[in-house]
Amino acid sequence: MLIQVAMTTRRRFLRVGLAGSAAAVLARSFAQERSAPLAPISSGTGPVIISTWDHGLPASVKALEVLGAGGSVLDAVEQGVMLVESDMSNRSVGLGGLPDRDGHVTLDACIQDHDCHAGSVAFLEHFEHPISIARAVMERTPHVMLVGEGAAQWALANGFNKRLVDIPEVTERWKQWLRTSDYTPGVNSENAPAGRGDALDHDTIGMLALDAEGRMAGSCTTSGLAFKVHGRVGDSPIIGAGLFVDGEVGGACATGTGELVMRTAGSHTVVELMRQGIGPQEACRQAVDRILRKHPGLVGQQVGFLALRKDGACGGHAIYNGFTYAHITADLQQMVDASYVRKWE
Ligand code: GLY
Repeated sequence: MLIQVAMTTRRRFLRVGLAGSAAAVLARSFAQERSAPLAPISSGTGPVIISTWDHGLPASVKALEVLGAGGSVLDAVEQGVMLVESDMSNRSVGLGGLPDRDGHVTLDACIQDHDCHAGSVAFLEHFEHPISIARAVMERTPHVMLVGEGAAQWALANGFNKRLVDIPEVTERWKQWLRTSDYTPGVNSENAPAGRGDALDHDTIGMLALDAEGRMAGSCTTSGLAFKVHGRVGDSPIIGAGLFVDGEVGGACATGTGELVMRTAGSHTVVELMRQGIGPQEACRQAVDRILRKHPGLVGQQVGFLALRKDGACGGHAIYNGFTYAHITADLQQMVDASYVRKWE
């Protein structure tokens, strides 16, 4: 079913429903190694950008603009999600996110390029753009992942500044939560209106992009599960869980309860299924199915996967209804209601 919402002269905006179902030397040699592409470049049918939830639409439009202005696909997936990280009304991404149970907003992010190079930060406080720090870790260090205070010190030493924010609504919601300390998760709270206090907000913007030359990249950034145990890190900064990109095949990203995704290396699973010749939609479906098989009795926890294949084909699938994603090409902008296994009332 297609419902046209708006049309411009160049681009169509649609909503689509799918029924049912350190060392400088080390850093330098690392950069040199990376200058030779490892994966063959496909003929490419890009640009194509897909991104989780309703906040994925402006982020994906931004990513397309970056590509149109001559930016790389890595620039596109970084700058696209930066838009959401800067939105202080977003309660699941960036410094406007809900805190952990001790009142700290801790951020997780990762980025990966066509040739599987990756950077990641986790358990990071007081930086507006964890995705940019993740990219800097990838490009300026021989490492993949920095966490916590070490990540913060490295970021400060590498030109990133702290930003302190005080959002009274967030403090109020934390105080309210402390009265019950109830960890019952909420399905699709990512798309809940600001101020809603009846579910544990979580999640994430994941983005996958393919440029006109057939090069791919992905990004993922989140404040994680609201009121989580201090120190908890979810799937979003874990390469292979919240995000996996291999330009030989395609990319995948995840949203929802991170523990379910981490236990099954969800995004890696999706990409490896595509490597076997399974289409992106079916690969997402099989990854969701694996989570459900491994967690009999699971109720009320959402996971959604997105997949983008190197030829531009894409898909998404979730445990519950309500998972939306943006799908953007040069002449099409659409929000898609992902297919799902179960109905959440
Ligand atoms: N998927 C985000 C998290 O669980 O932290």
